[in-house]
Order: sequence, then C-alpha cells, then structure tokens
Amino acid sequence: MTLTIATTPFADQKPGTSGLRKKVRIFQQPNYTENFVQSVFDVLDGFAGQTLVLGGDGRYLNREVIQITIRMAAANGFGRVLVGLGGILSTPAASHVIRKYQAFGGLILSASHNPGGPDEDFGIKYNIANGGPAPEKITDAIYARSTQIDRYHIVEAPDVDLDRLGETQVADMVVEVIDPVADYAELMEDLFDFDAIRALIAGGFRLSFDAMHAVTGPYAHEILERRLGAPGGTVVNGAPLPDFGGHHPDPNMVHAHELFARMFGADAPDFGAASDGDGDRNLILGRAIFVTPSDSLAALAANAHLAPAYARGLKGIARSMPTSGAADQVAHALGLPLHETPTGWKFFGNLLDAGMATICGEESAGTGSDHVREKDGLWAVLLWLNILAVRRESVAAIMADHWARFGRNYYARHDYEGLDSAAAETLMAELRVAMSALPGRVASGLAVESADEFEYSDPVDGSLSRGQGLRLRFEGGARIVFRLSGTGTSGATLRVYLERYERTDGILDADTAEALGALVAAADELAGITRHTGRAAPTVIT
Ligand code: G1P
Ligand code: ZN
Repeated sequence: MTLTIATTPFADQKPGTSGLRKKVRIFQQPNYTENFVQSVFDVLDGFAGQTLVLGGDGRYLNREVIQITIRMAAANGFGRVLVGLGGILSTPAASHVIRKYQAFGGLILSASHNPGGPDEDFGIKYNIANGGPAPEKITDAIYARSTQIDRYHIVEAPDVDLDRLGETQVADMVVEVIDPVADYAELMEDLFDFDAIRALIAGGFRLSFDAMHAVTGPYAHEILERRLGAPGGTVVNGAPLPDFGGHHPDPNMVHAHELFARMFGADAPDFGAASDGDGDRNLILGRAIFVTPSDSLAALAANAHLAPAYARGLKGIARSMPTSGAADQVAHALGLPLHETPTGWKFFGNLLDAGMATICGEESAGTGSDHVREKDGLWAVLLWLNILAVRRESVAAIMADHWARFGRNYYARHDYEGLDSAAAETLMAELRVAMSALPGRVASGLAVESADEFEYSDPVDGSLSRGQGLRLRFEGGARIVFRLSGTGTSGATLRVYLERYERTDGILDADTAEALGALVAAADELAGITRHTGRAAPTVIT
C-alpha cells in the first residue's frame, strides 16, 4: 500500500560540492532522509517505469537508507531498482551500472573520504542518466524543493534481502540485487591490457594496495589478485567496515601513513596505491616516491596511449582550477585542448559527453576518463600499472623523465580544518575586497601579477558558476588559490593551494616544502591566515 506522509521542510538540505553530506545523527532525524529523497524525485521528470541504481560505500546507515529509498522509489513509480549486493556499489561502479543498463539515474550513498560511524558522516548524491553527478541546475532545484516539501510517498513493504542476488517484488516495482564487482571488472578488462599487467606481476613486480576498509576491497581482490595474479596479501585492509576501522578512508599521507611507511621503508614494493571510502579517489606511490595527484593526472595523460582504450590519443584534458598546471604542459606539448573547471566532478560531465575531453583530474586525488562519469580510483591504479607494464621503468624514473620533458609543477595543498565558519568567511571576504589592489605588491619576495575570483562558463550548456575560488598569480608563474570546502560537515575548512612551475632546465628534484616555502609565507601575509584563524600551521598538507 502506498502511503503519503505529511512532513515539514528542513532548512539545511543544500547539496555541496558532492551531494548532501551531514552527520549521521542529522540524517537519523525523523523524515530527514525521506524529505531529501522525495525532493530529488519531485524535481525529476519522466521516470515512471524506469530504472534507478542504488548503492553506497557501506558506511554506517547505508542499509537503512537503502531500504527507505527502495520503498520510496516504489511509491513514486520507478519500475526497477538495481542495488549492489549488501547495499554496496563503489561510486565509479555505480556510474558504470547507470550507463550500462540505461538507468534513469542513481542514488549513491556516501560521504566519500569522511569518517563513518554513528557520530560521523553520511551522504546522498543523485547521479543523472549519463552516470555523472547531477549538475548545479538540478542540485539547486532539489534544494529549492527541500525548503517547500510537505509530504513524501512510501510503500509499506518488508525489507528486501540485500545479501542475496536476484529479484524481489516491492509493490509494483522489481528490485534486483546485483553483483557490484562483475560489470566493473569487465569494463576494466576492456580498457587495459590485462595480459601485459599479468606478465609484469608474474615477472616479480610487487605492489601493495590499501583499500582502507572501504568499498574498493572486493573490487581490488577480484581485479588485482584474482584476475591479474597478484599474490594474496597485495590488498590490505580489504574488508569494508561501516566505520572504516575507525579511520578516515582518505588516501593521503596523513591517513594512509602505513602505506607511506611501507613505500618509503626498507624492501619497499615497486608500486603502492590506495583508494577512499567510495572508491573514486586514488593515491599513487612508487618506491620512495609520492606522485602528487596533479602530477599523476599529467603523467597519465602523457602516457595514456600505452593502454588499449587510449591508443588513438586523447580528445582533450580537463582539470579543476586548483589542480596544478602540470596537465597544461602535457596538453600544450601534445597539441590537445585543456579545460579548466570549478572544483567538483560534476563540471566534467558535459565536456566528457560532448567529446571535448578524455581524461579529467582534480588535485584532491581524483582522476578519471570518459569510461564513466565519476572519478575512478582503481581505474587510475590500472592505467598506471598498464603504463608500467609497457615501459618497464620505475615510477621514480617515469616521473624524472616526465619533469625533464615538461618541467615540474611543485605543488601542495594546505587545509585548515574545523575553523570557526564566521572567521573563515571573513578571511575570504577581506581577501576578495583587497584583491584589486594586490597586483604589484611584493610578499615574501614574490610580486603579485594578477588577482581574481574564478568563474566558469560551461562551453556546452552556457551555464555560469560564480565564486569558485580566489586566485593570486605571481611573476614567474607561481600561484596561490584560496577556497572554502563544500564537503565538510562541521565548521569550515580553508583550502590553500600552492604551486610553482620549474622549467625543464631548472631544479627538478627539490624538496616540495622548500620549493614552496616563500609561497607559504606569502599566503599568510596576503590573506592573514593566522590573524583570522588563530592557526599557525595547517591541519593537513597534501
Ligand atoms: C573536495 C575536493 C574536490 C572533490 C570533492 C569530492 O571538495 O576538494 O576536488 O571533487 O571533495 O570528492 P571540497 O571539500 O574542496 O569542496
Ligand atoms: Zn570519494
């Protein structure tokens, strides 16, 4: 039986950089989850009888929200729901399933790299038929609807058994529990030369993949160990846990420190990698070398032709604005278009659909291609392995060669987490006002050349996105970008992105912290970070 339940709006259901993210306890308030899901359905048109894909990263609350969403999808008239076994689908796998089965769209339950558990984070994101995150036009409409909503629809039905593959009828709708790994693993076999990677591994190449107790464990076991023949134990922390073992499933040097220690220790493997809570981010390490995500994007773009899927070259490269210009050097050298978008994967969708870009990336450990419409952690790992299998050189040698060919963009991001929101807003507001007077000013020996606030006009649909980060450029090509995070769930996070380009005839093997030292001082001098926040140092450097 379909019930229509009266409800009242919540004021805080505005999706951020990547869907609605809140503390679990916020989602557990009566009607909170239902209101948001109904707001999504209310702004969509034409889904009667169509398929909805549903899955999450397995974090605390995943199963409960899946059951609610199934009952609401049935009440709202969807014909079919495809849900991953155990309620699990990695974000890139969900994107692929949406595309492969021509679903109307999908709901992905994840707070990505944020911690999980009863006192931690949860999230819901809507993806459209191309498999990608809903564009701002839709997320704005969802938010507007959430402020007006007065009822939701739900059927009365028992819980679906999520741990058994196959079909169940829920009112007039069919729910099919699918293998979350199979379709995705098959796609990866289509893109890459698995024989070459198998031969590399069989020849003694050693790798270590840290799944961080998050969603990629089952995918990595299947692909790296079973299909590519890496020995058992290659995948560590491979069992997904609702609280990620109490850690942040964030693949960076702070939270993946065990992997860093292994890769910089004695007898290190040849290659190390990790992925995040929902499987869309990647961390790449070689023996005693960390490849920054911006450099990884550039190196992957420069070498992609070595993998079967990209053998005919790329149509273009896209990167988010705060990502370093390393990819620009590659695009320039290869004669490819380079697109600069705001932060967030949703801005790449149009470029990929229009065939204007093949490879995209963000400095926040996100890389991907036109094979799906999300960033894809294991895809980046497999492309690296494919390149290593063909070139038969170490990661360090490949990067040294890359910098010798394209120059090096020294790069770091400094995050100041858990700031007082008002103080963070004031810092940004003051800097915005001060910017017009900055050109010509010298800070820490660096002369400001230009200062502006990034805005993006989408070349495909013409939509304009304002307020996407404050940029300061310095003579000689260095850059600092300031923006506030749109994914946090408490207080504010200030992100300061620092970058300096060194030409091919410059010093290419300097220590990053030293190379960026003057910029770090200039950032504080020009924006008053310590003055506004009381912090003498960032919380995390990536
Ligand atoms: C962060 C990253 C951004 C990424 C997003 C979702 O967003 O900076 O690149 O797309 O997470 O994974 P932010 O918190 O900066 O808004
Ligand atoms: Zn993620």
